[in-house]
Amino acid sequence: MKLFVRTLGCAMNVKDSEHFISQLKDDYELCDSPNDADLVLINTCSVREKPVQKLFSELGALHRDMKSGAKLGVCGCTASHLGEAIIKRAPYVSFVLGARNVSLIREAVATPRFVRTSIENDETNFEFENSYSSNPYKSYINIMVGCDKKCTYCIVPHTRGDELSVPKSIILAEARKVAESGAKEICLLGQNVNNYGKRFSSEQEKIDFSDLLCELCEIKGIERIRFTSPHPLHMDDKFLEVFSTQPKICKSIHMPLQSGSTAILKAMKRGYTKEWFLNRASRLRELCGDKLSISTDIIVAFPGESDADFKDTMDVIEKVRFEQIFSFKYSPRPLTPAANMEQIEPKIASERLSHLQSRHNEILDDITNSKVGEVMSVYFDELRAGGKAAGRSDNNFAVAVKGSEELLGKVCDVRITSAQRMLLSGELA
Ligand code: SAH
Ligand code: SF4
Ligand code: F3S
Repeated sequence: MKLFVRTLGCAMNVKDSEHFISQLKDDYELCDSPNDADLVLINTCSVREKPVQKLFSELGALHRDMKSGAKLGVCGCTASHLGEAIIKRAPYVSFVLGARNVSLIREAVATPRFVRTSIENDETNFEFENSYSSNPYKSYINIMVGCDKKCTYCIVPHTRGDELSVPKSIILAEARKVAESGAKEICLLGQNVNNYGKRFSSEQEKIDFSDLLCELCEIKGIERIRFTSPHPLHMDDKFLEVFSTQPKICKSIHMPLQSGSTAILKAMKRGYTKEWFLNRASRLRELCGDKLSISTDIIVAFPGESDADFKDTMDVIEKVRFEQIFSFKYSPRPLTPAANMEQIEPKIASERLSHLQSRHNEILDDITNSKVGEVMSVYFDELRAGGKAAGRSDNNFAVAVKGSEELLGKVCDVRITSAQRMLLSGELA
């Protein structure tokens, strides 16, 4: 039988979809179109309102085009958050499986109108098969589930529950399996990866994120280690030291700022100030040198954000000169305190977002142009049109060269010859 999976949202959903595919592999093989599938899974995201609004029209369209008798399952964060209501509104949906119930996929597929959305379910000791990776050259590894932070704008703690760490033994075993498969890169996943080890569901030895990184660096065959997302609050000196000195840890870090205004950060319950964030970013740039790239997430027009608050955000952008920014207009979410605060006018929100994005594009053009002539170490993992092979530099720039299959899975030095905003081009050095 055939399986089609549509994955929305973040890397955690990508990993959860990989788990679905692994667990269903005895009965289903993947296909490229929902119309050919016997089972269609949609792995949903709730973090902003729009995709949730579009869910039911999307489900309707999938249902119309699917083979008769095919099953349609709704998984992920919107499944956690809307639960049974999804089947009530779209009765042709076969099952609803929440983001913290991934290990139950076989039962869900086999049971008519199965609904399981508990955010207390504990899967941290479940040994997933992990026989499928969307990219054979690299693998995601979950190191924790859930989130304890409860930032006032964010629905994730309500869709993924409280934070629990995965035992070290399971993480190391998975990383060794990745290395044995020939893949050289792992990316550790969690909502606050550098808070790793604070709470397990079973008795475990004491360990923090920095120690975990050091143990992973020992694994032969793993050449690159990335992780997402660390929280700026937990970027202590020990973490900065390990990050900057371990050569296998890629020199690219995501530092989700959200806002540059200390007052707004407080209203968001982020736990750090503008000064702390700037201090950590500049310390990292000092320790790692000009090879480091820093990416961030920013929310504009959080309730109560004044012009002066927004200026603080722009000030951080000028000072840190992020290599990549994911920016969003604040979107009110159910179950979150900020949804009941006084909202900013949509016109102001749009103006702020476009101002931020256009200034960032100027900074990014400067940064990418300055890379011409530099030699970067690139791990090739995809072919592109026009006889090109592409991959990521250690510091996470997309780089393409003339080349074919023989480059895939190799790490090579590339001299950068030209720069576009989202892609550097070069030749093997
Ligand atoms: N744990 C991560 C973020 C997970 S959600 C962290 O703390 O950074 C991914 C991103 O979505 C967030 O960083 C934030 O920028 C954005 N986001 C979350 N809730 C949002 C909301 N209500 N409106 C707009 N953007 C939001
Ligand atoms: Fe959401 Fe904040 Fe947790 Fe990130 S740290 S998942 S933004 S509550
Ligand atoms: Fe990820 Fe969206 Fe859930 S960002 S954690 S899939 S709400």
